[in-house]
Amino acid sequence: MEPVRIGIIGVGDMGGYHTLGFAEIEQARIVAVADVNERRMEELLAEIPDYPTPIVRYTDYRQLLQRDDIEAVVVAVPQYLHREVTLAALEAGKDVLLEKPMAPTVQEADEIIAAHRGTDRILQIGLVYRYAGLFRKMAELCRGGDYGQTTFMWCKEFRENFPPRAWFYDQRLSGGAIMDKCVHYFDLFNWMIGARAHRVFAMGGQHVIRYGVPHWVECTYSFWEPAEISTSTIVDHAWVIVEYENGARAMQGLCMYLKPPYPGLEVGAITHQGYQILARDDQTLTLWGGPQAVHGQEIEYEEPEAPWVGHIGAHRSRLEFLECVRTRRPPACDPQIGRDAMAIAQAAEMSIAEDRVVYLEELA
Ligand SMILES: NC(=O)c1ccc[n+]([C@@H]2O[C@H](COP(=O)([O-])OP(=O)(O)OC[C@H]3O[C@@H](n4cnc5c(N)ncnc54)[C@H](O)[C@@H]3O)[C@@H](O)[C@H]2O)c1
Repeated sequence: MEPVRIGIIGVGDMGGYHTLGFAEIEQARIVAVADVNERRMEELLAEIPDYPTPIVRYTDYRQLLQRDDIEAVVVAVPQYLHREVTLAALEAGKDVLLEKPMAPTVQEADEIIAAHRGTDRILQIGLVYRYAGLFRKMAELCRGGDYGQTTFMWCKEFRENFPPRAWFYDQRLSGGAIMDKCVHYFDLFNWMIGARAHRVFAMGGQHVIRYGVPHWVECTYSFWEPAEISTSTIVDHAWVIVEYENGARAMQGLCMYLKPPYPGLEVGAITHQGYQILARDDQTLTLWGGPQAVHGQEIEYEEPEAPWVGHIGAHRSRLEFLECVRTRRPPACDPQIGRDAMAIAQAAEMSIAEDRVVYLEELA
């Protein structure tokens, strides 16, 4: 089978992981990368000196898109550039793996969806948890019916700050911390509850990384050197409550000034039969309660062996993207799924800014 010939646009932290990740996959052949930062491209490609074919570097992504021998691209530039780059890629006839969030605003995401609708291209969104065995199993339990309907959910992500990249800390460029981080978790709520979100209330603000106060930002998982950030316009903590049309309720906690190490992500669901299904960042999935008083039964799930390049679910999302490109089947994480998660995030950002409950229909 001929490998799928791909290009990667934006090779910072996430695009770097994608480059190293796709380099491990036989069914993919990286033809070129594009980034405005030449040094970053050089240092990244030096990490795969034995790659079987030369990888061409471009500082202008449009040159990469002009290549007829590239079938598919990964878009991993910051989200304020997602619309521009994705529209150009679709226009050039490429299949696209677009990083989350699809854009800083739902309005821009809708423009991407409208442009995509007129094509027969694959457009997969990088909500990697959709591809993680842990959460696929959890969704199966939450949606399967054996334990009753999922009516109550929570997620906590208490973690270190974003990488020292100014755009993350600029509300207009990133869409905000809730938009950048919590689309993953709002998508888990949407998926597992299986209903449409109806309204959102959020509280949040700046405790530590504050506008006008110089803050030395280091990030353990980032390639970028530590830097001072003093003009952050995003929240560094928030609580977000989401109510669904079927009456289910979910709550998201985000804190972004914790110092590592820490127990990170936790996602929980309670069903109307009184079961609790709990996913933890040690990758365990356990079942509690219910009529039989289950005591933390460990649930097994299938997770194919994968090189650790980036993120839980990331490797499988790359494999499935290649499969979609080859077979033309639609991706497990499509643009509407990406947009639905963003709508909750934008409503939460609005709720904090305007100190009120926000109805999702306001974003229609
Ligand atoms: N799926 C996930 O779990 C996940 C995890 C991290 C980041 N992300 C997303 O990936 C995207 C990138 O995040 P990141 O952390 O890698 O950011 P980053 O700042 O580390 O990388 C962005 C890269 O884009 C490059 N770039 C900027 N303008 C460009 C242009 N015009 N043309 C080409 N390259 C350009 C930058 O030089 C940089 O190397 C964001 O949308 C982010 O939210 C997703």
